[in-house]
Amino acid sequence: MSRKKITVVGAGHVGATTAHRIADMELGDVVLVDIVEGLPQGKALDLAESLPVVGKDVRLIGTNGYQETANSDIAVITAGVPRKPGMSRDDLLNTNTGIVQNVTQQIVKYSPNAIIIVVSNPLDAMTYVAYKVSGFPKHRVVGMAGILDTARMRSFIAEELNVSVENVSALVLGSHGDQMVPLTRYATVAGIPLSDMLPEDKIEAIVQRTRDGGAEIVRLLKAGSAYYAPSAAVVEMVEAIIKDKKKILPCAAYLEGEYGIHGVFIGVPVKLGARGIEQILEIGLTLEERAALQRSAQAVKGLIDKIQL
Ligand code: NAI
Ligand code: 2OP
Repeated sequence: MSRKKITVVGAGHVGATTAHRIADMELGDVVLVDIVEGLPQGKALDLAESLPVVGKDVRLIGTNGYQETANSDIAVITAGVPRKPGMSRDDLLNTNTGIVQNVTQQIVKYSPNAIIIVVSNPLDAMTYVAYKVSGFPKHRVVGMAGILDTARMRSFIAEELNVSVENVSALVLGSHGDQMVPLTRYATVAGIPLSDMLPEDKIEAIVQRTRDGGAEIVRLLKAGSAYYAPSAAVVEMVEAIIKDKKKILPCAAYLEGEYGIHGVFIGVPVKLGARGIEQILEIGLTLEERAALQRSAQAVKGLIDKIQL
């Protein structure tokens, strides 16, 4: 059986750490693409030279073009600019629309059967751009954000309770922005509802810190945004697709009526497998939760309306 091929566009912080994790997990061959000359080549070579030490057999190529990406099974788009302190993800809209549009055209040209995972921000709007520009069926375009936001919430809960992160399950839906929807009702610790483990004010503080999770890292780093947790989240998606795990994960999916939402990408629980998004799960929401998800969709719609393709 030949190895799977994964293209990662953008050899910056998220792209390079994604390539690193894919190689370390031996998930497939990686082609790292960037517009900066030497950057993807240098990082791919450095990563390739680590493989004898970690004992993994994959091929890593760095390039400024797309020929080497031909026939990729998965294309991860991390190309774009990250935010600086004081900027919101939405401030990146115009610059990153052009970049994601251009990158998507190249992916379609060389890998017409790929599944696209979008990472560039503003995430939900950029996933929409990739979907529209690619013309791919909706199950082959998916955005990464919910796993990251959920991981942040899980890590804060585990820290607060001093329990294993593996004990903590949570679910954050909605857009990757101020309108994200952390569903505390679905958070559990070893199967026990979070509300039995923590008082309301502590839960509220965790929800707020989750919403601000990206900005907290931007403030600390001062230049650039998070990449270790984001790349871990991307690779969980890559693995689910490559291994056909049929894993239920919160991802940005194109909704056509689910949750009463039409024509936008937004974070919802999906089943990820070899075909990409194999199912969108419509879980039970209270009226309040449903309204929050719809407000989130409105915020994404507002951004999409500003996009000119
Ligand atoms: P970075 O600045 O370290 O890397 C971005 C790379 O993209 C740079 O190396 C740049 O040269 C490259 N690039 C720009 N235009 C390109 C083009 N047309 N073709 C190929 N490569 C191009 O940024 P970082 O930290 O890796 O973040 C990348 C993007 O991912 C940002 O938009 C950031 O906001 C977003 N992000 C999204 C997350 C999410 O949860 N969805 C989490 C973390 C980051
Ligand atoms: C994050 O949440 C910047 O969207 C990125 O860290």
